[in-house]
Amino acid sequence: APIQTPDLATCNPPADTAPADLSCCLPYGTGTAIADFKPPPASAPLRVRPAAHLADENYVAKYERAVELMTKLPDDDPRSFAQQWRVHCAFCDAVYDQVGFQDLDLQIHNSWLFFPWHRFYLYFHERILGKLIGDDTFALPFWNWDAPDGMTFPAIYANQSSPLYDERRNPAHLPPFTVDLDYNGTDSNIPRDQQIQQNLTTMYRQMVSSAKKTELFLGQPYRQGDQPDPGAGTVEQVPHGPLHPWVGDPSQPNGEDMGPFYSAARDPVFYAHHGNVDRMWHIWRGLTPSNTDFTDADWLDATFLFYDEDARLVSARVRDCLDAAALRYTYQDVGLPWLNAKP
Ligand code: C2O
Repeated sequence: APIQTPDLATCNPPADTAPADLSCCLPYGTGTAIADFKPPPASAPLRVRPAAHLADENYVAKYERAVELMTKLPDDDPRSFAQQWRVHCAFCDAVYDQVGFQDLDLQIHNSWLFFPWHRFYLYFHERILGKLIGDDTFALPFWNWDAPDGMTFPAIYANQSSPLYDERRNPAHLPPFTVDLDYNGTDSNIPRDQQIQQNLTTMYRQMVSSAKKTELFLGQPYRQGDQPDPGAGTVEQVPHGPLHPWVGDPSQPNGEDMGPFYSAARDPVFYAHHGNVDRMWHIWRGLTPSNTDFTDADWLDATFLFYDEDARLVSARVRDCLDAAALRYTYQDVGLPWLNAKP
C-alpha cells in the first residue's frame, strides 16, 4: 500500500541533531479540514523558473520582496517562512510515524518519494511567494550547478543586506569559489577548469550512465510498513546530498543551516538548490524514451500534506505532480553542457 498522509495528532520532536526545544509539528490539529489537491487551470500563466545566476535586477527585487513578506508573516501562519522551513523538517526528521506503524518513521528522503515530495514542496512555496506580491507569474530561481556559469554559490543569496542571506553558511564557499558536486567534506582545491570538468563528468554519470533504470534515478520503493531509507536515486545521492554540507557552516554544531535535515530549508538557497534537483527529474525524463516514471500504484498514490497559498491544508498524491506543464511551471532553457561529458 502507498505511504499515507500523517496523523496530525501524533507528532514527535524532531530526531537526531535538532535542538531539544524545536517543534516541527504542522500547526493544525486533528479535525482540520483537508482539501484535495487540484492542479491549476490550464489557462493559468506558465511560471518560468530562471537560473539564479542569470536573474535580472527586477526579478531579484521581486523575489526579495516576496521572501521578506513571507518572513514577516506571523510565525503561526502556515505560509510564514518559519512554518515553511518546518514543513521540510516535519517530513524528514522522524516527526511523524507512518499511519498504523508507531515504530516506523515517515521519511521522504532516500527513497522514491524524494523527487515528488520536493516538487510539491517547491510548487506550494512558489505559489505562496507569488501570492504575497500579487504576481501569479512568479517563479522560484534554480541554482544551475550543472553548468559552468552556475558552479559557484549563487551570488543573489550572498548579499548580506538581502532577505535571501543566511549567516549560517560556509564562508569559504561563497563566490567566486567553485563548487565541488561530489564534495566529501574536504576541499580538493584543484584548478577551476579541472573542477568544472570533474563536475560535468559527475553530472553525466548521475544523469546518464548510472541512471538507466527508473529506480536507479528516482530511488527505491518505499511503501506503507517499509523501513525508511530504502535507497536514494543517483541525483539525490550526488550532487544533491553533498551540496547540503558544502553550503552549511562547518563551525555550527551540525553544519547548519543547509547541513542537517531539520534546518536545511531555513536557508533560502535551499529552494534554489531543490529547483535544480527538480529540473534534473524533468530533464532526465526527456533524455530518452526509456526514462519513464514508475507506474506502480504504491508510488502514484503516495500522499503528502502541504499548505497552499490560502493557508489551507492540502493532500496531494504523487500522480498529480508528474507533469510540470500541468502544474504550470517550467525552467529557463540553459542547455545541458554535461551531455557531452562522457568520461
Ligand atoms: Cu529534503 Cu535537499 O533535502
